[in-house]
Amino acid sequence: MRTLMLLFFGVTSSWAVDYELMLEDPDIFAPCTDGPPGSINARQAVNLDDFVIEHESDILHLSGNATLIWDVRPTDRIAARVDLLHFNRGTWEPTIFSISNQDFCPIMYDKNQYWYKYWTQYVSNQHEVAKKCLREPGTVLEHEPFDLRLKIENVHGPTLRGRHKMVIKLHAFDEKNIPRPNSICVEIRGELLKLK
Ligand SMILES: *[C@@H]1O[C@H](CO)[C@@H](O)[C@H](O)[C@H]1NC(C)=O
Repeated sequence: MRTLMLLFFGVTSSWAVDYELMLEDPDIFAPCTDGPPGSINARQAVNLDDFVIEHESDILHLSGNATLIWDVRPTDRIAARVDLLHFNRGTWEPTIFSISNQDFCPIMYDKNQYWYKYWTQYVSNQHEVAKKCLREPGTVLEHEPFDLRLKIENVHGPTLRGRHKMVIKLHAFDEKNIPRPNSICVEIRGELLKLK
């Protein structure tokens, strides 16, 4: 079952609003404060020694090589999920904004996906590594230099304001569809700024 919920992308209209997440911490690979039991952070899943992150006001300049060390198998299925949470009166509350996909690998480099726009289009050796996805330790994802601004576009409904975080989770499932314990969880915290 492949489902993609892009709740962010409403129909474009004059009422739609764009937001940008102004990062609280330039380390976009912060561990989750409340991740799934057994989950690991991005630095435990990917060697970033040859990957450069430079923070300049609201833009991150990214480049270099990321080598996978995530201990999963080439035959695994990877499920991906991104949730937006809002910090309210001392607790993180869910919002209606989320993206999830039960089989990420076949669409890791699909031009219509959100992550392609923000990340995977800049993997310069994607033709070599596309089949490996994130499932083969030792795979090197080479990135051409790119800039990242975390925008959430075409939002309808009540105005979002204040402190938010994006929680990104990747789960691997073995051939019997049993989840592996070492899921990846990353969170990006910041203040949402209304752009228009
Ligand atoms: C990334 O890997 C490629 C291929 O091994 C190499 O040519 C290049 O110098 C590496 N770049 C960095 C920043 O380590």
